[in-house]
Amino acid sequence: MKENFEKIVSLAKRRGFIYPGSEIYGGLGGFYDWGHLGVKLKWNIEWAWWREMVQLRDDVVGIDAALIMNPKVWEASGHVSGFADALVECKKCHHRFKADETKGDECPDCGGKLTGAKQFNLMFKTFVGASEDSSSVAYLRPETAGGIFVNFKNTLSTNRLKIPFGIAQIGKAFRNEINPKDFVFRTREFKQMELEYFVKPGEDEKIFNEWVERRFAWYKTIGLGDVRKREQTKEERAHYSKATTDIEYEFPFGWQEIEGIANRGNFDLSAHAKASGQDFSYLDEETKERFIPYVIEPSAGEERIALALLCDAYTEEKERVVLKFHPKIAPVKVAIFPLLANKPELVKLARKIYEELRLEYTAVWDDRGNIGKRYYAQDEIGTPYCITVDFDSLEKSDVTVRDRDSMKQERIKMKDLKEYLNGKIV
Ligand code: GAP
Repeated sequence: MKENFEKIVSLAKRRGFIYPGSEIYGGLGGFYDWGHLGVKLKWNIEWAWWREMVQLRDDVVGIDAALIMNPKVWEASGHVSGFADALVECKKCHHRFKADETKGDECPDCGGKLTGAKQFNLMFKTFVGASEDSSSVAYLRPETAGGIFVNFKNTLSTNRLKIPFGIAQIGKAFRNEINPKDFVFRTREFKQMELEYFVKPGEDEKIFNEWVERRFAWYKTIGLGDVRKREQTKEERAHYSKATTDIEYEFPFGWQEIEGIANRGNFDLSAHAKASGQDFSYLDEETKERFIPYVIEPSAGEERIALALLCDAYTEEKERVVLKFHPKIAPVKVAIFPLLANKPELVKLARKIYEELRLEYTAVWDDRGNIGKRYYAQDEIGTPYCITVDFDSLEKSDVTVRDRDSMKQERIKMKDLKEYLNGKIV
């Protein structure tokens, strides 16, 4: 497993999924850049999430809030005082660790003695405006949720919503992690896909359980069948949480969280109401009851899901390496080849098919080397279908479609190609 992980990291760079950030200057710990295929992979994850969580629901609307907000947001939410990890430092090599990742008082790297734990706030600080003093301090958001809570009233008054309803957001979050590790698993800049689902107190536990099941089932739809649920202990839970269930995937470095579903009670809306002086209560028009809604929050990490998908898809076979992505998730859906690059009539027809298909799917063109090499290159990035135009195509108006996983080839009439692919890709 560990050996495979090194190969996955190397493939991710070699084929343009993920590069180390600022590489030419020696990198910067916990930051990565996503290349052409990585961007497409992430878009597909985002779209699969958004489709399920917003597009197909009447009770959820979206938002895209600012990354930097008034620091009072993070004071009220408890992040300024409480969003910290316990940090220990080796007295000999001065490496720093999260206290819960060390055993006893010995440093994992050199055997030196560790200092006692001290609290380290994970928020990145910056300054807004031309002065750099305490009055201009601001934070990069440590979770996207903050931007949702402060827009609770705006969203309610500008959309036709009744409780229960949700506000969804996909966006960057930043944490100055003590020890970023395991490639893009724990980084200092990452994307969250979060839903804050507002419910009537008393209905929270039932709706929490429903969201856990719904989110668990979603992973199958993107081809990640082998995930498990795990309830967090009281000690593990964030300061705002009444209950949290994680969805975990078994990475080559062990079972780890890719999403957390939390019951945040009315912690956030109450805290913002108190700190801002605004009324965050909700009036149920039918029962005339007024209450501060509770919040159920499914919160997923985009890069962690991308990494899980890469690990899950990575397959070594006798003569090839294949990324067996679900077609919905595959960055490239279809590749089009002329059998021979030096035969203009084949190139012309293949090009025509390519131009038509690329209007609907992410398609690539390849006319280099022999067909075997082209298949190999597409298998390695997980392209589910390869189409070859050969001499028969000129006479019979059909093409060869090769399936990535079975490697079987079928002749399909050109006029039926879109229907054929639609049935498999969309
Ligand atoms: N609003 C709730 C919240 O932020 P969290 O468990 O701290 O909860 C939610 O984060 C998700 O964000 C995690 O399940 C994980 O997928 C992702 N995440 C958190 N910290 C991360 C990091 N340092 N690097 C990459 N992803 C991270």
